Amino acid sequence: MCGIIGVTGNKRSVSILINGLKRLEYRGYDSAGIYVNDMNGHDYLIKRKGRISNLEAAINDNVNGMSGIGHTRWATHGEPNEVNAHPQYSADERFYLVHNGVIENFKQLKQEYLQDVHFKSQTDTEVVVQLVDRFVTKYQMDTKTALLKVLRLINPDSSYAFAMMDREQADTIYVAKNKSPLLIGLADGYNMVGSDAMSMIDETNKFMEIDDHELVIVKPDHVSIESFDSNEKHRKPFTVDMDASATDKGPYPFYMLKEIDEQSSVMRKLVQHYLPDGDPVIDDDLLAAMMKADHLYIIGAGTSYHAGLAGQRIFEALTGIHTSVHISSEFAYEHPLLSEHPFFIFLSQSGETADSREVLVQVNKHKWPSLTITNVDKSTLSREADYTLLIDAGPEIAVASTKAYTAQIAVEAILAKALGQKKEISAAEKFPLKSELSNIANGIQAITDGKDKIAAIAAHYLAKPRNAFYIGRGVDWSVALEAALKLKEISYVQSEGFASGELKHGTIALIENHTPVIGIITQDRTAGLTRSNLEETQSRGAAILTIVSRHLSMDDDTIIIPDVNELLTPLISIVPAQLLAYYTSLGKGLDVDKPRNLAKSVTVQ
Ligand code: M6R
Repeated sequence: MCGIIGVTGNKRSVSILINGLKRLEYRGYDSAGIYVNDMNGHDYLIKRKGRISNLEAAINDNVNGMSGIGHTRWATHGEPNEVNAHPQYSADERFYLVHNGVIENFKQLKQEYLQDVHFKSQTDTEVVVQLVDRFVTKYQMDTKTALLKVLRLINPDSSYAFAMMDREQADTIYVAKNKSPLLIGLADGYNMVGSDAMSMIDETNKFMEIDDHELVIVKPDHVSIESFDSNEKHRKPFTVDMDASATDKGPYPFYMLKEIDEQSSVMRKLVQHYLPDGDPVIDDDLLAAMMKADHLYIIGAGTSYHAGLAGQRIFEALTGIHTSVHISSEFAYEHPLLSEHPFFIFLSQSGETADSREVLVQVNKHKWPSLTITNVDKSTLSREADYTLLIDAGPEIAVASTKAYTAQIAVEAILAKALGQKKEISAAEKFPLKSELSNIANGIQAITDGKDKIAAIAAHYLAKPRNAFYIGRGVDWSVALEAALKLKEISYVQSEGFASGELKHGTIALIENHTPVIGIITQDRTAGLTRSNLEETQSRGAAILTIVSRHLSMDDDTIIIPDVNELLTPLISIVPAQLLAYYTSLGKGLDVDKPRNLAKSVTVQ
């Protein structure tokens, strides 16, 4: 997490930095800061607790610079306050550093080299910048040599993206990374560094990758790259087609509502992209690699993990290949006995999740084949996997993931059909995916058109309780997990997704008068059982609600959703739950898009 931006050259830096930080605010928003230098002997450091708007308000017209670095923080070491905000700087106020990641051995470095230094902050970052200063001032190293020495001293398990400035070389930004994302942006007469392409897209669409363990020196008219062992590197820039206006909120009060509404058009876009004539258009090399697999391992975190659970049964039904789904932070350190010919599918909206990347690093070490399904082209997970499929959802800004979940499941279904057809599996050949997805697009639209009713249900049932449960069986259980995550992360109602049959084995003890229990019912085989489980909770005082497929509905059901193929019901049953979460958060007056303690892109393990 944390967002980094930097610029040096022939443009005024303050507005570029602030604009970049606003685009990066999704990565963390507990404090922010900038350091700018006018390359004429004047420099400015401004930091504020809270949102970028607080920082912006603190910058007056006198603050001017042609180079600078900025940061928006998601705290790891030290509480969110002005002192711990970045840039961190050396005691003599010569070096300024912004950092995203965690320096694992910062305490040892402090102990070994900096016992006599007075530290202002509680951050691991300050140790790095003080250490650079120590090597420059005490051992007369030049800045680059000192930084390289520090980079070599940092424990390799650490994660970092750094941008550093030396006030004595005001036109230069020193950049390095390991595990955390960072890109160079190339413009006319000025160059940039940023945590993602979107943070620089208003200035340029030309970018250059940085690999782990590289030091990059960014000057107004030149960018040089070398490895930590001082080998010069040459790299071609690439361009990114990105519509910056796609990040506008338009008439919506919050991005989350816009993104929920966009799900129907994302479905239509996916149909056009991948299923123009009904048969999936998928890279032959990817399918050939997957044909050799005896087991598909789906890896993801949070909502992406939940999208994997929904995809699992689609892969098994349409390809006949055993498929399992794993939480990346667990799989990286303890995984089951693997099959002989594994194939790994990474699901990640951002393509930057550190836990998932850790698994990919290990997969690559073993040379196992891999695919990333992501929303962000050229993201780390996309670059480092063998293959990429894009989910075409457009930028997702709200921290609570909505359209990425449904788009990931749709792309899983498209891939499963393509692979199943190649294997001549009749279930895949017969599966009318194009018409189903078009039908689903209409169904989502019908649900979002009826959002007022869902707002009223949220106000009635979810505004007051501290706890709530979503329950279901089979794939409805996997949707219950996602529905509960949505509700808890933005409304702070303690909510759990539960296998409905499992409640009576202990958890039912938590049911009190008026505890909302929301049943998801879309599967013929299990509908009656889930209804019985709901009644068991009602007998103990629960307020029961239902999200039910039309053909299974009864008179007193709460929300009735259109019928779709049983394999694809998560694409539609999640939508009312997203809206329930949204309106509960809105009703409580919370910042729906930026819930407390969270960040959109989780780039620390
Ligand atoms: O970018 P990713 O899909 O890899 O992110 C994984 C999770 O951090 C993410 O899905 C998170 O759970 C959502 N913000 C929840 O809404």
